[in-house]
Amino acid sequence: MKRTASVLALAALPLFAAPLAAQAAAPFHKGDAKVGEKLHKEQCAACHVGRFGGDGSKIYTRADRRVKSASALAQQITTCNSMLGNHLFPEDEQNLGAYLNKTYYKFK
Ligand code: HEC
Repeated sequence: MKRTASVLALAALPLFAAPLAAQAAAPFHKGDAKVGEKLHKEQCAACHVGRFGGDGSKIYTRADRRVKSASALAQQITTCNSMLGNHLFPEDEQNLGAYLNKTYYKFK
């Protein structure tokens, strides 16, 4: 009986693996949006607020925003990181991308 159960469990594996693989293709899937949100508050928002007022989020929501794809978003995060003296790690950029994409850009 025990043996039957484990055989069944193995047989079911590919069913779970398929949706996981699909998710892995999403932009910034390696990033943690929660960590990104915190980083954004600490490192990024002030400069954007200085230019756009409010909480600075207008920079992401204005009609003529520049970023139009996930790769452009990654590029812009790197550019802005360089203005901060490049002290964020690549995984921080992934976290920031996950946060900004989830909250504002919603690229698939
Ligand atoms: C020293 C100031 C400064 C800092 C710090 C800064 N930014 Fe920016 N950021 C800008 C400016 C200026 C623009 C607008 C560029 C333009 O419109 O040509 C911008 C634009 C952006 C955009 C594109 C918005 C659009 O139009 O779609 C993103 C995304 C962005 N920043 C992310 C970040 C992130 C993430 C950080 C923190 C790591 C950060 N920025 C830190 C100045 C800054």
